[in-house]
Amino acid sequence: MNQHSKPDPTIVASQITPRDVFEQRRTLIRAAAAGAFGATLAPFFARSALAQTTPAGSGTKLAATRNAQYALMEAQSRYKDVTSYNNFYEFGTDKADPAKYAKSLITRPWTLAVEGLVKKPKVYDIDELLKLAPLEERIYRLRCVEGWSMVIPWIGFSLAELIRRVEPTGSAKYVEFVSLADKKQMPGLAVPVLDWPYVEGLRLDEAMHPLTLLTFGLYGEVLPKQNGAPVRITVPWKYGFKSAKSIVRIRFTETEPKTSWHVSAPTEYGFYSNVNPGVDHPRWSQFSEHRIGEGASLFTPTRKTLMFNGYGEQVASLYAGMDLKKFF
Ligand code: MTE
Repeated sequence: MNQHSKPDPTIVASQITPRDVFEQRRTLIRAAAAGAFGATLAPFFARSALAQTTPAGSGTKLAATRNAQYALMEAQSRYKDVTSYNNFYEFGTDKADPAKYAKSLITRPWTLAVEGLVKKPKVYDIDELLKLAPLEERIYRLRCVEGWSMVIPWIGFSLAELIRRVEPTGSAKYVEFVSLADKKQMPGLAVPVLDWPYVEGLRLDEAMHPLTLLTFGLYGEVLPKQNGAPVRITVPWKYGFKSAKSIVRIRFTETEPKTSWHVSAPTEYGFYSNVNPGVDHPRWSQFSEHRIGEGASLFTPTRKTLMFNGYGEQVASLYAGMDLKKFF
């Protein structure tokens, strides 16, 4: 985390991480001038997190039809990695924490309120929401701002399916996503690493883009809790933090939503957060990435990060004429 008013997140880590791992991490974090997102250190975290965790999936199958148009033909990341190497700060800041602590998340009953500048606001029960449109399997790359990536078969349908049904008014320009914030279920909320609840946002046309996925599952099963059960957003051309997990509210607004990471560190996390190897994070490069599962040492070869995470053909037109260094 940067030098703003938030406490050092390593305080949490010291309470929940084995001492040797914590000590190693603390040294590394300090060396990187402290930060919740310690990009270049991801391989170290990967090794410690993956070694310690036996991931638990949801164990509940979820049928979906593969949408070939959105099925990336790249080796899929291992299920074990996808479900044990997570960012979900409501359950702790260590990559292994969500798999360990998200068991306390109650995913039924669950409602998603869709409100704000829409003609037909509605509170959806999760089981009704699941039936709103046919479920598709889409294989997307997810690139985290920390410098790692995975390839994951998600299950869901385009968020646009939901947006069309609630009929945004002419003045709706942005969409805000709000995650659950319940101290009883989420131990990480005890620490003000971010201003809770976790809030993310998109411009309305980004939210309407068919790639933006209202997500209910992965690898043929209901979302494991650590991956954002029972419903999350997945926006594959943006850094992973734009993909809010365990959402309870979608709100249509006229003004740009105040997103958690931007509020926390405005010079480091812009509203757009499109994957862009040409715009470095102020404290580290975004030029390349480490694919989780392809080794975990400083000597493992990295991959060149692609503009818009490789989805430029589909999404570049959304940003025509914009200076993407200014609107990072
Ligand atoms: N959503 C909430 N509510 N809280 C979080 O801490 N972390 C984000 C995003 N969504 C986060 C969140 C970040 S930084 C990433 S990289 C992705 O979730 C990780 O998703 P995954 O664990 O399913 O790979």
